[in-house]
Amino acid sequence: MTFPVPHTALARLETQVQDALRAPDDRTRGPNGTPGAPGAHGPHGSLDVLGYGEITLVLRLRTPEGSFACKRLPAFPDADRFARYRRSLDAYLHSLAERGLTVAPTQVWHTRGPGGRVIAYCVQRELPPERLCSRLLHTQDETWAKNFFARFLDAVDAAVHPGLGLDAQASNWIDADGELTYLDVTTPLMRDARGRELLDVRLFFTSLPWILRDAVRLSMAASIFDKFYETRGVLLDFLGNLHKERLGALVPAFLEQANARVAKPLTTDEVAAYYRADARMWELIQRLRAADRFWHRAVRRKPYPFLLPPPVDR
Ligand SMILES: Nc1ncnc2c1ncn2[C@@H]1O[C@H](COP(=O)(O)OP(=O)(O)OP(=O)(O)O)[C@@H](O)[C@H]1O
Ligand SMILES: [Mg+2]
Repeated sequence: MTFPVPHTALARLETQVQDALRAPDDRTRGPNGTPGAPGAHGPHGSLDVLGYGEITLVLRLRTPEGSFACKRLPAFPDADRFARYRRSLDAYLHSLAERGLTVAPTQVWHTRGPGGRVIAYCVQRELPPERLCSRLLHTQDETWAKNFFARFLDAVDAAVHPGLGLDAQASNWIDADGELTYLDVTTPLMRDARGRELLDVRLFFTSLPWILRDAVRLSMAASIFDKFYETRGVLLDFLGNLHKERLGALVPAFLEQANARVAKPLTTDEVAAYYRADARMWELIQRLRAADRFWHRAVRRKPYPFLLPPPVDR
């Protein structure tokens, strides 16, 4: 199941992104310095923001052929690194489908940047934003929530294994027509038989330059992915993130359902402690990136090459 990629519109979008990245700080902020709500003309000038993740943001592209979700990837230094990424994404999509997961059909669009670099986007059709599971858990009742969580557990349990990971937080799923669809595939989580990440971890951490200082830090960073490769870790991350979504009240009911699936039961204390540690890590990362952006703009007088999501209130 595929769709035609809107080439011309994407080329125009990339030009707009380049303009937004070049814009001085003031122009990229929303009214009164407030971050814009998703979909509003917020902190990124005229760009239409569909949603936010931890690392970056997702842009909406409206065309006569429909509306698309566009996820800009870190710039690839050369065609080879890009080809490798494409292969890993294809393998990831294939493995997820093989394990019965419904994934939003995803295509890659790319263009040449300066110095042989490749600028690329993962593109999906826009699915109904009001059906995002992190929103539905706010708007639907507890019966819906429990039914959702049972389907979620089946999907996660069937997909995850030591070679295949999932970042399964509620904001990465859309429930349309009674089917859970997984959205967040831009960072393919796959490991070889020796447990090495197939992802170009170094490339995907280019927005975290402090991590790249040595190999030790890089391997430490890779270990933050461990949890995504086993059901228990994925569930702990999902449940912890409910606190971020202000959905902590759902934790006890979900724990009961989750514990039927794992050998070592999860507890509310473990979930809360996990979330506190996770929140601290992301706060640190956000602060370091803000500092790096300041360094690029104010000291080196160069545009900062990434679109950053606004700070999250954790
Ligand atoms: N196909 C889509 N249709 C509608 N909304 C989408 C779609 N893809 C993404 N979104 C919105 O954008 C948000 C972030 O998307 P996604 O999870 O794919 O990227 P991400 O979280 O930024 O990835 P990462 O955490 O790896 O940086 C989602 O929570 C959702 O609100
Ligand atoms: Mg996400």
